[in-house]
Amino acid sequence: MNAMTLKQRIRRVKSPYSSTILTGARPFFTLTPMTAPRTVLLTGAAGGLGTLMRELLPSYGYRLRLFDRLPIEGEPDAIVADLADKEALRKAVHGVDAVIHLAGISLESTFEKILKANIEGTYHLYEAAREEGVRRIVFASSNHAVGFTPRPRDGSAAIPVNTPRRPDTFYGLSKGFGEDLAALYWDLHGIETVSVRIGSCFPRPTSVRMLSIWMSPGDCARLLHAALTAEDVGHTVVYGSSANTRLWWDLSSARALGYEPQDDSEEYAAELLAEQGELDPENPEHAHLGGAFCTDPPVWPY
Ligand SMILES: NC(=O)c1ccc[n+]([C@@H]2O[C@H](COP(=O)([O-])OP(=O)(O)OC[C@H]3O[C@@H](n4cnc5c(N)ncnc54)[C@H](O)[C@@H]3O)[C@@H](O)[C@H]2O)c1
Repeated sequence: MNAMTLKQRIRRVKSPYSSTILTGARPFFTLTPMTAPRTVLLTGAAGGLGTLMRELLPSYGYRLRLFDRLPIEGEPDAIVADLADKEALRKAVHGVDAVIHLAGISLESTFEKILKANIEGTYHLYEAAREEGVRRIVFASSNHAVGFTPRPRDGSAAIPVNTPRRPDTFYGLSKGFGEDLAALYWDLHGIETVSVRIGSCFPRPTSVRMLSIWMSPGDCARLLHAALTAEDVGHTVVYGSSANTRLWWDLSSARALGYEPQDDSEEYAAELLAEQGELDPENPEHAHLGGAFCTDPPVWPY
């Protein structure tokens, strides 16, 4: 039984992002204290980000349980199943302290495929978490949930997390759905989520656009650790990137979780600018946060 009164709970909500950070008292059930998560289910563990996080997260003390529709070489205990398989998901979440949900289609695709993997798949994961009593999920959202937002230029303000959703693809639309699903499961069932609108997480930035949205793998692990361990997150939306000199968005809701980014893409700027030049304000591909997803999105090959 949590001894805090309603007023005390509301007073603990210090963030200015009231429209995207949903915390505070919830009258419908009793909260039990969240313990620091140790066993964590990593969905999408065979993917690019999953592979990087499999290497980095164990050093924070996590035991990772792996889940993907593809087998993972050298990981015979990984659960090989599709997000459509409700029973497999239920077994996968049984006994874990938290989930990092990376699995899904990570590029543009047909609406039907996105519906199955990203929309229904994420719903199945939340249902499994509810049934098995999992209290914390970190959801891999994307900058493409707000991809048609004009990118900041020449000193204009950084994009806040409560900027209106402007998905650039069905893919981006599915990430907005995931964020709203997370908000619903917090309000209705008390499952806390940090939705991380990831920029680009790769070992190094490979385009001038990425200089503004890049998240180093080390910073990604730091942010996921903060998202797993921060108290009273309710449903919190954060942008996921390093402390880039050319950053386009506001990292304060991520910092409020205790995230302290250590990297800056600027060390790659001279090389990338020499190769590609500055972003061209007349080029529609460079006009919005989502870059080429707004004009000619890369398509999921399967
Ligand atoms: N890498 C980035 O820079 C970036 C940026 C924004 C958002 N994200 C999000 O982070 C997550 C991971 O990204 P990534 O770059 O590793 O993508 P990825 O495509 O490399 O990995 C996705 C993984 O999900 C698995 N998967 C897909 N559909 C599935 C299903 N129906 N059931 C079970 N597993 C399924 C795939 O097999 C794959 O291993 C994705 O949700 C993506 O949308 C990543």
